[in-house]
Amino acid sequence: MSESSSVVEVCVAGTGSYVPERILTNGELAKMVDTSDEWIVTRTGIRERRIAADDEFTSHMSTKAALRALEQAGMTAGEIELIVVATITPDTPTPATACHVQHQLGASNAVAFDISAACSGFLYAMKICKRLISDGAFNNALIIGAEKLSTVTNWEDRSTCVLFGDGAGAAVLRKAGPGEGSIVATEMGTDGNLTHLLEIPGGGSACPITAQNAGQHLHTLNMQGKEVFKIAVNRMKEAAEKVIERAGWRAEDIACVIPHQANLRIIDAIADRLAVPNERVFVNLDKYGNTSAAAVAIALDEANRTGAFKRGDHIVLVVFGAGLTWAAAAIRW
Ligand code: ACO
Repeated sequence: MSESSSVVEVCVAGTGSYVPERILTNGELAKMVDTSDEWIVTRTGIRERRIAADDEFTSHMSTKAALRALEQAGMTAGEIELIVVATITPDTPTPATACHVQHQLGASNAVAFDISAACSGFLYAMKICKRLISDGAFNNALIIGAEKLSTVTNWEDRSTCVLFGDGAGAAVLRKAGPGEGSIVATEMGTDGNLTHLLEIPGGGSACPITAQNAGQHLHTLNMQGKEVFKIAVNRMKEAAEKVIERAGWRAEDIACVIPHQANLRIIDAIADRLAVPNERVFVNLDKYGNTSAAAVAIALDEANRTGAFKRGDHIVLVVFGAGLTWAAAAIRW
């Protein structure tokens, strides 16, 4: 699904992120399952990840990231009109995590809801909210990608437990004023024929967790990594190319590519295929692992705050996840 740029420009007015204090290193994981720091670093690029405390929920991480984004945007919670949280690890199946965040922020004038698109959720939220703002339905939106994946990880399965982590990232979108940046082009796609490649099979209406099946890890992430890997590279490359083309840019015009942080080998393959030099591709998965919907949001904030790009620069975000889903955005900062 594609969208041409709208008449009303929408900009990213502020970004924020939060990761829990607790660091879980590859060395610690090697004491829990049959793995090694060498295998994890070579095959994924991940060195450590963050794990939320038992009493630290997806909404709490979301709220901390949101407060930082609001501060950077120079806005108060009361001014926010729309809150969208992208997550596959909501605090509660219902109400939506966005409702908990609205309460915690005191954003009493906001409409709040969640979306579920796994690792692609933050950019799905960006596209939805961009359109809602440019259509005039809302003046601004707070979009958040947040996950507590440690609660849906099988800590006995070495093929997945080394990959995931917890955290949250946020961005404030609003109508752009003169001289401000713009979300120039967005793209999103889904292939529901491939749901089985990456899923949490239990805990929903298809397979409720019961006393009988409680020990079978049905509520945890299963992935056919090799198959997902190949499709991820192709879909992310295509999605990025579409927004770059729609924006009318060339590879050499792009100051920074911010990809989903799942595997350094996937990121390197995409950089190579887009002909963007590695130094212009933002990577932080060594510190946080794959935080699903939070990953690109945390990376955007870190790239923004560490000066990986400046006002007026062209940046490209591109993501891939369960569904299978993918999305991209071209932003003039
Ligand atoms: N430590 C040591 N050995 C391991 C580990 C481990 N942690 N995990 C797997 N192995 C072994 C396997 O058993 C296998 O051994 P074998 O050859 O004797 O059978 C060997 O290592 C190779 O395993 P593969 O699964 O083929 O390893 P691969 O190189 O494909 O890497 C990985 C696996 C990291 C999961 C990779 O396939 C990947 O990153 N896939 C894509 C992930 C992704 O992008 N997901 C989408 C987003 S996630 C989301 O939406 C929540």
